[in-house]
Amino acid sequence: MKILVVGQGGREHTLVWKLAQSPLVEKIYCAPGNAGIAQIAESIPMPDQFTELADWAESQDIALTVVGPEAPLAEGIVDVFRERGLKAFGPDKQAARLEASKDFAKRLMLEKGIPTAEHQTFTDAEEAMAYIEDRNAPVFVKADGLAAGKGVIPGRTFKEASQAVTAILVDKAFGNAGDSVVIEEELIGEEASFTVLTDGTYCLPFVSSQDHKMSHDGDTGKNTGGMGAYSPAPVITPELHNYVMERVVYPTVNGMAGIGSPFKGVLYVGLMITDAGPKVLEFNCRFGDPETQVLLPRLKSDLVPLLIACIDGTLEQHADTQWYDEAAACVVMASGGYPDPYQTGIVITGLENADAIEGVTVFHAGTKQNDENIVTDGGRVLGVTALSGGLHDAIQQAYKGVSAIHFDKAHARSDIGYRALGRD
Ligand code: AMP
Ligand code: GLY
Repeated sequence: MKILVVGQGGREHTLVWKLAQSPLVEKIYCAPGNAGIAQIAESIPMPDQFTELADWAESQDIALTVVGPEAPLAEGIVDVFRERGLKAFGPDKQAARLEASKDFAKRLMLEKGIPTAEHQTFTDAEEAMAYIEDRNAPVFVKADGLAAGKGVIPGRTFKEASQAVTAILVDKAFGNAGDSVVIEEELIGEEASFTVLTDGTYCLPFVSSQDHKMSHDGDTGKNTGGMGAYSPAPVITPELHNYVMERVVYPTVNGMAGIGSPFKGVLYVGLMITDAGPKVLEFNCRFGDPETQVLLPRLKSDLVPLLIACIDGTLEQHADTQWYDEAAACVVMASGGYPDPYQTGIVITGLENADAIEGVTVFHAGTKQNDENIVTDGGRVLGVTALSGGLHDAIQQAYKGVSAIHFDKAHARSDIGYRALGRD
């Protein structure tokens, strides 16, 4: 069969890499892709309208379309494909609200008794400020809608929190995504990512993972899309796993079905493991990036039938999905300055040498082919990933890969996985 993947980051390179291993797959296209993806799939331009992409998919006899990022899901790409009778993996527009509206997600959690931070939602800045004054900092101030990962602002003091409210509600820093704000209590603990596939009824849990969101060592610096990840995440014990399935995952998926909006696709739950147990920080309606880079190398089973089963409602037949015991680690090499403005077009060398290291695969995130060179083309440039015996080995191999690659002003954290290793 022919498959189309939508997106252009490290998550999409990993998806294409895993899908390409399936004996069911004859050819993969990626819209728009990147330089690494272009080595295993044919890149096509991403048209402005989903209908144009659906026309193209129909004309090319694409059997499955896999949507990577949240924005097209929230804008209804799956609805457009489904209307044509085309199979597209991911939630439809209504179901993608779990990520696209934090207020919607919080209401569902409250209604279903899903553990999460206490919150209130506001459209009026003065009422929001009064609430902050009343409950005292620290709080987290969040734009309701999608804001490319920038819509969550910690308010450590009243001043910081009220500035965040003004930026979102009054100055419209995130446009319509900031028509309302969610203000919630700060949760203290260790974060973990919990990923499941679901067909709207049955939920298939993935192995655990954890990412590092801060730009610099020791989880300092600025919030980024993710500077590295590892799997398994020892913080998710078997007991916590069961608790999250019973108290978070199934109530969410059943709750969505109950309001006539079944959620099909990846449900990625961002958790804070607090002293009082796991609490939900956020829902995402797609695979994590860079979590995907450590999850899919550990998946032994063919990914294609799993994704199709999510669309067809037959996921329960895949309850025996197999995983490798080896651990995986991914170290992101970013452009100097990221997440602030950075330069692009810088030549990258050593990619083949890194790929030749045992267990190492280099997933491209922001790269572009420029004549005979591969050059930087984004904030997160590469996800250097290793699959090896234990976490310690995987991290060590990933860093060997990083040392083999060079581009001017490259920045990588040197401590990916430190929390997990600290548990040894
Ligand atoms: P989110 O996009 O909601 O996951 O928020 C981005 C990051 O902000 C999370 O990964 C956490 O590190 C942090 N965060 C968000 N909400 C809270 C909270 N209520 N308490 C503590 N940290 C939070
Ligand atoms: N790594 C965080 C995310 O994908 O949202």
